[in-house]
Amino acid sequence: MLLYLFIIIFLIIVGTAAWASFKAAPWVPTWQYDYQKILNLVDLKEGETIFELGAGDGRLLPEFAKTKAKSIIGFEISVLPYIFGWFRVRKLKPRVQFKFEDFYKADFSKADVIFCFLTPPAMKKLKIKFEKECRPGTRIISYTFSILDWPLATKDKPTEKSIPIYKYLSGQKNG
Ligand SMILES: C[S@@+](CC[C@H](N)C(=O)[O-])C[C@H]1O[C@@H](n2cnc3c(N)ncnc32)[C@H](O)[C@@H]1O
Repeated sequence: MLLYLFIIIFLIIVGTAAWASFKAAPWVPTWQYDYQKILNLVDLKEGETIFELGAGDGRLLPEFAKTKAKSIIGFEISVLPYIFGWFRVRKLKPRVQFKFEDFYKADFSKADVIFCFLTPPAMKKLKIKFEKECRPGTRIISYTFSILDWPLATKDKPTEKSIPIYKYLSGQKNG
C-alpha cells in the first residue's frame, strides 16, 4: 500500500515537471546574484501588481514583497517547486499569492509588471498573449531570453559572462 502511494506521488511530481517543461520551461532557478538587478528592472511602485510567470520554488516572491507593490502573484504548475514555494510564502499571504495555475490562462491585463524566466519557444507564444492582453506601458522583464522583434526598453548585461535581463514596455511599436 505504502509502495503504491510512493509511486503515485512520484508520478505526480515527475509528470507535472515534464508537463511544465513541455508547456514552457523546466524548473531552473534564477541566480541569487541577479536578484537586485531584477528588482531594479521591475522597479515596483506603490499599489502595483506583479505577475511572475512560472515562479518555480517562489524564491523571488519574497524579494518582490520587499517593495511597496500591492499584489505579488506567482504562477506554477509543477508540484514539487510549488510545494516549496507555498511553504516559503505562507506568511506573506494575502499580499503574495502563489497559484497552482497555468499562466497561459491568467489575465495579463491585471498586471503592471510581468517577470519571467522561460525559454525561447515560450517567449514566442507569450508574445501574442502580451500583445493581446497587456495594458500599454506594462513592464515585461525576461531573464535570459528576449522577445523577438520587440523594441527593448533596457538590457542588463554588464559583462560577457552575465546573464542578460531584458526589459520591455508593452504598447511600444511592435510591442
Ligand atoms: C526556468 S524556471 C524559473 C523559476 C523562477 N521563475 C525563478 O526565476 O527562479 C520556469 C518555471 O516555469 C514553470 N512553468 C512552466 N510552464 C508553466 C505554465 N504554463 N504555468 C505555470 N508555470 C509554468 C516551470 O515549472 C518552472 O518552475
